[in-house]
Amino acid sequence: MSTRILGIESSCDETAAAVVADGREILSSVVASQIDIHRKYGGVVPELASREHLRQIVPVVREALAQAGMKLADVDAIGVTKGPGLVGALLVGITYGKTLAEALGKPLIPVNHLEGHVHAVFLEAHKAGREVKLPAVCLIVSGGHTVLYEVKPEDLDAQGAGARLHYRKIAQTRDDAAGEAYDKVAKLLGLGYPGGPVIDRLAQGADDRAVEFTVARIKDGKADFSFSGIKTAVLHHVRKNGIAPVSDPARVPDEVKNLVASFQRAVVTALVRRLRRAAEERCPASLILTGGVAANSLLRREAARAAEELGRPLVAPPIALSTDNAAMIAAAGDVAFRKGVRAGWDLNAEPHLPLG
Ligand code: KG4
Ligand code: ZN
Repeated sequence: MSTRILGIESSCDETAAAVVADGREILSSVVASQIDIHRKYGGVVPELASREHLRQIVPVVREALAQAGMKLADVDAIGVTKGPGLVGALLVGITYGKTLAEALGKPLIPVNHLEGHVHAVFLEAHKAGREVKLPAVCLIVSGGHTVLYEVKPEDLDAQGAGARLHYRKIAQTRDDAAGEAYDKVAKLLGLGYPGGPVIDRLAQGADDRAVEFTVARIKDGKADFSFSGIKTAVLHHVRKNGIAPVSDPARVPDEVKNLVASFQRAVVTALVRRLRRAAEERCPASLILTGGVAANSLLRREAARAAEELGRPLVAPPIALSTDNAAMIAAAGDVAFRKGVRAGWDLNAEPHLPLG
């Protein structure tokens, strides 16, 4: 009989629930996005996010169970995102998870959201019948995080799904996360929220050399990421050239397309340069790319090229598993569950929960 974990995720602007069997097989995955609510503000408004999680959490969990053909009583444990994320948003998932666990007499498992993003990769690899070779250099790049890890199994004999992992941070952003820079640049140009997918699309076929942004060379192996400089350079360019925010999304001027393509090239160059440097220094068995920005077509292409040149496989989840979802939380929860990790009734949100 398989172990079935109900995952609950509410760290930012997606209310999500999923059921995963044995940490490998996704029986259901439901994501209620709040994009329409936050769009007019050009970013996530924390109070609105919490309120919407409250509205969505019960129907979303119900739908995840229905799609898996299960009842609450069939669940073996409940995995819930403990952090990092928005405190009010996290508390909705945590409180609901606690209530379910108490009412059903099931174990409650605390899950680190970032570890969830890593497990999205294992879920995908399992589906494709592949194994993620460890140690890996792993880039988690999203709206809230840009962080590079070395990932190793705690036990060298245990690899792949189910293995408890050890994380060592190599680099992180000093200021904005890469996805945050995408969102802010899109807001500045009137392109809507979230900015990543819009910029990704507008950049296709545009001149990405039209505007030169400086991408810092990596002087030493400890170098962190920084994206606020590129974002400010976009702002200066917009002011200097009198570029007005786009009013009709169906008619974006070439000047704006070229600007966002150039911005994207700068961001992707910075990310891939750092990933490549870490891989050169550590000679990992594979490279991992995950998080919302891993959905970016140029980043995927350039990271794949770097991996090929280094002679290492690049593993990245499909887009649905790159952005926030609860299947990744259930998969990470499964590993912790098997190791006996349990949350007490005092489980609280940790907005800045570190990994590794
Ligand atoms: O992982 P995620 O769903 O939520 C966080 O944990 O932050 O990531 C959301 C971020 C947003 O900033 C969004 O603009 C970005 O991922 N994103 C993209 C793309 N799709 C989503 N960025 C660049 N290119 C994309 N195609
Ligand atoms: Zn995320």
